[in-house]
Amino acid sequence: MRLDDVDWAAKPWKAVSDDDLGAALAVPSMLTMDEARLYYWLAAQAEGFGAVIDLGTHRGGSAARLLAGLAAGSSQAPLYTYDRFATPEVRSDMLTQVQTALAPWGARATCVKGDIARQTWSGGAVEVLSVDAAKSPTTADRIAEEFFPALEPFRSVLIQQDFLHAKQPWLPVQMAALADCFQLVARAGNVCAVFIPTAKVTSDHLKAARTEGLTDKALLARLDEAAHRFSPALPAQRFADQRAMVLANPGVRDAWRMKR
Ligand SMILES: C[S@@+](CC[C@H](N)C(=O)[O-])C[C@H]1O[C@@H](n2cnc3c(N)ncnc32)[C@H](O)[C@@H]1O
Repeated sequence: MRLDDVDWAAKPWKAVSDDDLGAALAVPSMLTMDEARLYYWLAAQAEGFGAVIDLGTHRGGSAARLLAGLAAGSSQAPLYTYDRFATPEVRSDMLTQVQTALAPWGARATCVKGDIARQTWSGGAVEVLSVDAAKSPTTADRIAEEFFPALEPFRSVLIQQDFLHAKQPWLPVQMAALADCFQLVARAGNVCAVFIPTAKVTSDHLKAARTEGLTDKALLARLDEAAHRFSPALPAQRFADQRAMVLANPGVRDAWRMKR
């Protein structure tokens, strides 16, 4: 990705128009428009040295926004989108629905169905990785173990879609522990954060960044460290909300089961 002279503070993706996004906007998504533009813009910058991966696509929205960006850029990279493609609300065949929704971008997209925590990645370098499925520490750890080592320093980009979401406090903890490997460069929407890898992620880094099995006390202590590390770039209130969510849900490590 051509990242040398990006003025992240200026949010260059703001220039992406609804017309640019085109057919992607017809695919349902939980992303805000700021995030939609960011996904498109990052994919459009891709050089093509590695795959574009969307972890947690739900009804296809994030993948569609990435695909529209890829179509506008020069990369021939494939896109892989992973999901269970089954939720309690949508009982019909979500996989077929998503494949149909992504059909305007041809054969470029591959949908991989199943638990992401059980997936393996052996497809080489990853240029763009969007993470919107790290809804438990176990899955966050597995995503890091499997996909982060494929990111190329200063050439790839990592989107942590729910980084500041109150119900995913393990994400700042994980990324603070990986501070030797990633630099926070931007945020978008309400809770999304963008990181550039600055070093290859090794098994030692991953071991230090594991979030599974932390007690509430340890999680809160590491969250406080993360809040400090990401200050003032990220608002303290978001970390306070994550802290309050842990306190209100002792021992709960599943975003969907956390209650305010
Ligand atoms: C917030 S939604 C993603 C929204 C999507 N990125 C968009 O643009 O609208 C999270 C998705 O992650 C998926 N997911 C969460 N944990 C998963 C897991 N362990 N394996 C596979 N999919 C998972 C869910 O099925 C859900 O579709």
